[in-house]
Amino acid sequence: MAIRTKFTEVFGVEAPIAQGGMQWVGRAELVAAVANAGGLGFITALTQPTPADLAREIDKTRDLTDKPFGVNLTILPSINPPPYDEYRQVIVDSGVKIVETAGSNPAPHLPMFHDNGIKVLHKCTSVRHAVKAQSLGVDGISIDGFECAGHPGEDDVPGLVLIPAAARQIEIPMIASGGFGDARGLVAALALGADGINMGTRFMCTVESCIHQNVKEAIVAGDERGTELIFRPLRNTARVASNTVSREVVEILDRGGEFADVKDLVAGVRGRRVFDDGDLEAGIWTVGTVQGLIHDIPTCGELIARIVGEAEELIAGRLAGMVSAAPVSA
Ligand SMILES: Cc1cc2nc3c(=O)[nH]c(=O)nc-3n(C[C@H](O)[C@H](O)[C@H](O)COP(=O)(O)O)c2cc1C
Repeated sequence: MAIRTKFTEVFGVEAPIAQGGMQWVGRAELVAAVANAGGLGFITALTQPTPADLAREIDKTRDLTDKPFGVNLTILPSINPPPYDEYRQVIVDSGVKIVETAGSNPAPHLPMFHDNGIKVLHKCTSVRHAVKAQSLGVDGISIDGFECAGHPGEDDVPGLVLIPAAARQIEIPMIASGGFGDARGLVAALALGADGINMGTRFMCTVESCIHQNVKEAIVAGDERGTELIFRPLRNTARVASNTVSREVVEILDRGGEFADVKDLVAGVRGRRVFDDGDLEAGIWTVGTVQGLIHDIPTCGELIARIVGEAEELIAGRLAGMVSAAPVSA
């Protein structure tokens, strides 16, 4: 058996499961492991300090898999923006055929990607942005609900409503993101009208993810309440792990503080120390509410096989068993 959807067909993968871009986490070993397991992994372009490093990371991934994989290009407003055009050029020159765009309107990047035969999966957090991206001609949508790790947007609409609301207007392949970690989530996403799922936090907590073991164990130990929403008053909300640093950021901004007042607390170098050294209180680190559903640290192969296998059983067994041709007797 296998689960075939518009997403697996258009993006040429076996399983309807993507591993979205993750700053500091989306590297060759993880992406290749997801690809080898039949999913669609994305290297995170901006984790690589320079475009030349991205080219090397793509080569490294190719050495580890001959299956399709993609590159995530996250375009966020920034005082000193990275050289997006150069990263984009590296993606095109590398021959990678799938890109995940996120963070803002993908329009400026689409012509170059499409002219070079690259399919674009655009990740967004609202129905209106999904509809806009579809009208611009992207090849797929990844719709990220309020549950998600990272940037959930400002509308606070969870997947249970966001996914079917988007499905009503989206005709191209659409995967559901935010809060997915197991077969029940995949089956629910399919039932809600999506063609698959995207997972971040769940893939962080796998053998092949390069982050410190302490972080993976913290995710296993954590529950669904263990996150904070920082930058809410600045309307640039991010869901991150609840720790002394994130709680202090929330407090300062709630008291009327400005970005300058929390700049040092949220510095990327501090967050990076969490992933590299395993010091969970060193800084801000991204994680989603789905950590409440994560209880182990499997390989990506085990994880994807388990999710697909259990989803098939759930659909063909438990759910099919609930459908009765005969009327229920009084
Ligand atoms: C550690 C981490 C870093 C992330 N960094 C990015 C990023 O750089 N760009 C991006 O588009 N999404 C990023 N995300 C979001 C994921 O791609 C994905 O949309 C999200 O994790 C889905 O929610 P989930 O964690 O509940 O599965 C990140 C997520 C995590 C956990």
